[in-house]
Amino acid sequence: MQIIKVGIIGCGNISSIYIENLSNMFKGVKLVACADIDLSRAQAKAEQLNDDGKVKYPDLKAMTVDELLADPEIQIVVNLTIPVAHHEVAKKAILAGKCCYNEKPLCLSRDQAQELVKLADENKVLVGGAPDTFMGAGIQTCAKIINDGWIGKPISATAFMCCPGHESWHPAPEFYYLPGGGPMFDMGPYYLTALVNLLGPVAKVAGLTARAKEERVCTSELRKGDVMPVDVQTHVTGLMQFASGATGTIITSFDVWKHTLPCIEIHGTQGSLSVPDPNCFGGPVKLCVQRSDFKEMPLSHSYADNSRGLGVADMARALRDGDAFRANGQLASHVLELMHAFHDSSDSGQFVNIQSVCDQPKPMPSGMYVL
Ligand SMILES: NC(=O)c1ccc[n+]([C@@H]2O[C@H](COP(=O)([O-])OP(=O)(O)OC[C@H]3O[C@@H](n4cnc5c(N)ncnc54)[C@H](O)[C@@H]3O)[C@@H](O)[C@H]2O)c1
Repeated sequence: MQIIKVGIIGCGNISSIYIENLSNMFKGVKLVACADIDLSRAQAKAEQLNDDGKVKYPDLKAMTVDELLADPEIQIVVNLTIPVAHHEVAKKAILAGKCCYNEKPLCLSRDQAQELVKLADENKVLVGGAPDTFMGAGIQTCAKIINDGWIGKPISATAFMCCPGHESWHPAPEFYYLPGGGPMFDMGPYYLTALVNLLGPVAKVAGLTARAKEERVCTSELRKGDVMPVDVQTHVTGLMQFASGATGTIITSFDVWKHTLPCIEIHGTQGSLSVPDPNCFGGPVKLCVQRSDFKEMPLSHSYADNSRGLGVADMARALRDGDAFRANGQLASHVLELMHAFHDSSDSGQFVNIQSVCDQPKPMPSGMYVL
């Protein structure tokens, strides 16, 4: 099998799990390089040692962003920079002839997303990105349950992601409160991508938004007392009409201390499905048929553990086989349009028709499956 070589740009908080998984978890990809605007961050990642004093990732070389983009061996760039830099870095990667897998959101604006998809087509490379959690065992099991008819025709969905924000733990939380951040652009991609994967694309939305505070104070050990301006709405409520006719409700919030709401539920003519946290890869998946109690279902698919990078491995498979890949640019652009549309609807007081469409991603093969 041709092993596809991968380079990471952006060596911050989330890069650790990508480096670990893209080095060890998948047979079709090999992580060979990492870069950052701050080279010392890339060097620190590449020079990590095991407990026995040996280099942890011997195949990983630190380089500048320009060196990584000029390396002819690297076919996929994994863009783990902050949201405001996603478009610029992805565009450079595509123009350098590389496929590009972006962390979420794909980029900031709908125009930028369209440009990236068009440029990728013109340059015959692939573009897309996170989340890839919908390809994990939990949500794939839910898709199988729905496709096998257990809950009948899906009628409605609810999705809730509420928390007090990220300033209690993230070492550089500013980007969560700048354009491209906020609870919808930060966490909405997990919930909306899962819903589109389970119910298909959305045709129309409405939204209402709020902002509890104009500034936030960091409470983490590292940043205690630092004050950050809040430039985004931090509570976003959305209504969705799926093209299938099903309806959905979503709330994403950084203005909730605690709650008891479920992550995602799907209700159909014959039963109800409790979908696991779409920010994770595994279960529990719970099903009830008509008036029965909810029962936990066995997971039917592989990748139940933290498998971040699964979407990169699927992109590599598609590249090798000349096939479609699941976490693709159309899907990520559709989700980006939905997130903007909730805010636009809140501003205008009107429903917003969604212009983009995307296919429901092909289910992952069930049972033991290694990418
Ligand atoms: N932290 C998490 O738990 C988490 C989880 C899932 C997804 N994400 C997403 O991953 C991305 C990165 O998040 P993070 O928490 O790792 O952020 P971070 O701030 O910790 O790291 C970002 C890194 O990108 C580098 N960078 C910024 N602009 C750059 C540019 N133009 N060129 C090269 N390098 C550049 C920074 O120097 C930094 O090292 C974001 O899009 C975020 O939404 C984060």
